[in-house]
Amino acid sequence: MKTILCFTVLFLCANSQNLLNDFRRFFGASDVRDTANFRKSYDFVVVGAGSGGCVVANRLSENPEWSVLLLEAGDDENFLTDVPLIASLQTITSYNWGYKSERLATACLGLIDGRCNMPRGKALGGTSVINFLLYTRGTKQDFDQWAELGNPGWGYDQVLPYFIKSENCTKCREIDGKYHGKSGYLSVEHPGYESPLVKRFIKSGEELGYKNNDPSAPYGLGFSKVLATMRNGMRCSASKAFLKPILHRTNLHVSIKTRVTKILIDPSTKQAYGVQFWKNRRKFTVLATKEVVLSAGSINSPHLLMLSGVGPRDDLTRVGIPLLQNLKVGYNLQDHMAMSALVFFVNESITVSDRGVQNPVDIFNYVFNGRGPYTIPGGAEALAFVQTKYAKIGGYPDIELVLGAGALNGDVYGSLRSLLGIPRSLFERVYAPHAYKPAFSIAPVLMRPKSRGRVVIKDGNPLHWPKLIPNYFENEEDVKTMVEGIKMARWSSSASVFCSSAITITQSRHFQKYNITMITTPFPGCETVPFGSDEYWACAVRHVATTLGHQVGTCKMGPPSDPDAVVDERLRVYGIKGLRVVDGSIMPNVVAGHTNAVIMMIGEKASDMIKQEWARK
Ligand SMILES: Cc1cc2nc3c(=O)[nH]c(=O)nc-3n(C[C@H](O)[C@H](O)[C@H](O)COP(=O)(O)OP(=O)(O)OC[C@H]3O[C@@H](n4cnc5c(N)ncnc54)[C@H](O)[C@@H]3O)c2cc1C
Ligand SMILES: *[C@@H]1O[C@H](CO)[C@@H](O)[C@H](O)[C@H]1NC(C)=O
Ligand SMILES: *[C@@H]1O[C@H](CO)[C@@H](O)[C@H](O)[C@H]1NC(C)=O
Ligand SMILES: *[C@@H]1O[C@H](CO)[C@@H](O)[C@H](O)[C@H]1NC(C)=O
Repeated sequence: MKTILCFTVLFLCANSQNLLNDFRRFFGASDVRDTANFRKSYDFVVVGAGSGGCVVANRLSENPEWSVLLLEAGDDENFLTDVPLIASLQTITSYNWGYKSERLATACLGLIDGRCNMPRGKALGGTSVINFLLYTRGTKQDFDQWAELGNPGWGYDQVLPYFIKSENCTKCREIDGKYHGKSGYLSVEHPGYESPLVKRFIKSGEELGYKNNDPSAPYGLGFSKVLATMRNGMRCSASKAFLKPILHRTNLHVSIKTRVTKILIDPSTKQAYGVQFWKNRRKFTVLATKEVVLSAGSINSPHLLMLSGVGPRDDLTRVGIPLLQNLKVGYNLQDHMAMSALVFFVNESITVSDRGVQNPVDIFNYVFNGRGPYTIPGGAEALAFVQTKYAKIGGYPDIELVLGAGALNGDVYGSLRSLLGIPRSLFERVYAPHAYKPAFSIAPVLMRPKSRGRVVIKDGNPLHWPKLIPNYFENEEDVKTMVEGIKMARWSSSASVFCSSAITITQSRHFQKYNITMITTPFPGCETVPFGSDEYWACAVRHVATTLGHQVGTCKMGPPSDPDAVVDERLRVYGIKGLRVVDGSIMPNVVAGHTNAVIMMIGEKASDMIKQEWARK
């Protein structure tokens, strides 16, 4: 609370020339001209202003002849969502839809209510307003595999130009310049702060045989300091990148706090012709003369399709929605699970905790210079893409290790805990006794899970949540791979007994300076398993591993021969005319990286396809 107050005061001072505007923004006024008078029809209606939708709305409205309506359920961002370090705070605000999974037998066993939090952004900018700002693209193999699955045009060489097109990374010349853009809308930069951990982490990687290289270039494996979607130390969401600079376009209407409830599809022609939505307690219908573009994200896009009669026959029959097209909508749910609960104590104050950075000097440095620890994106300082013994393809990572400048023990105010769903009792037992010790974390992330989940429609009410059954860790090899990831990171006084590879990151000579130790209190539910054994870590994974928020795959892209495909390689919904899906849900397989930039690439590519098709007509 103190931090927020401090920020408010300093923000207002730093921007005194805009004082009035900032007050307005703080109290909820936005610089978006929120449309209240809708036209009867638009050429394109885009549903959802997230990472995919903002790009599409921008690129389609480049053509002054086309009218575009962008509908978003959430509100505009505010200056607190801009601060990179406090990203985890955003998930306890109304900028998060707040989804939770059903209880699973295989994951989230030790979390609140035994359910997994599945945060999704509800804002102009979508999930890019609450995410951790990390900029990665996935690897070459990811996209080449999409193409091999029968999706021509999606190979690495064909998608790379779209990554470059959307990006503005002026400093990236110093890394691998030819893979980065300098004239796109999306600002990408390194954080304006680096703890001494970063260099040691990268050096440890070298000791393990990995290079220090740019994950946006097509190497696959390696260690690097993070790149973030940030402009002068402030969050650059999809909205700030792609919408705010073009709000003057008169052919683009944007409507916030607007909940789309149905896509209108003519049952005889199977033509999508408009949408129904609620705004200010009024119901509206608006027509789309060319296309409806669905960009509501991997939970809401499949839900809206099902509400509109496109989905699995059995489910639609069960809830009494007339079936227009039988497709496996909501299947193929994939996500990245992370073990964010590992804590590495050090014997010097070189880490960042939420108490530590309340230092007024740091806040000053942030507000006035856009630098300092507050610019660390979600607390993450460096990334490593590595292989365990389960990796099958050479050069293709199966685990990512995220270096955090702080750790869960320092989360005394509870924002990280509430993001992850860690119960108070677990925190009190395992972490609270160490709350004031300096510590960092290394979070292993499972890059290519074999488990598949589902989004299932619960009933016909569009305002009710769908059932979320992510099936995390249903496949045993997913757990085993995570355990190998943990063993690469961890420190253990008896490592030689448990570890196959002698060196771990925290045991490398580069970290010896800090006399690293770990918590030896077992997680509740894992007390009976020998502490530190593979079985112990497997138990820990099933109890406290959490999602990184990369849900994708629920409207799978694939060829007509693929019985699971929902959209074709031009992202058109099978069997329905004038309806496309452009967001994370079209990924046939989740990429080995964070998903935001990938989904913006999908938005760029889809926009070009839409333009090409309508130019031909
Ligand atoms: C906590 C967290 C941290 C993350 N960290 C990172 C990271 O560091 N790096 C990274 O690359 N990725 C990260 N991600 C993932 C990434 O941000 C998302 O994958 C990406 O933003 C999703 O884009 P999208 O377009 O598919 O959906 P979204 O961005 O979620 O957009 C969907 C939009 O549609 C709106 N909508 C939904 N239903 C309706 C409706 N019925 N009517 C009107 N509007 C509707 C939503 O409100 C939302 O604004 C993170 C995610 C989370 C949750
Ligand atoms: C890219 O970013 C730089 C540095 O922030 C800025 O000066 C430049 O104007 C940006 N370029 C574009 C095309 O927006
Ligand atoms: C290292 O940490 C252990 C455990 O806290 C402690 O017993 C030991 O004295 C420390 N060693 C040094 C050299 O600080
Ligand atoms: C931390 O521990 C290391 C290794 O045990 C030791 O050499 C170093 O002096 C310690 N540093 C401090 C500040 O205690």
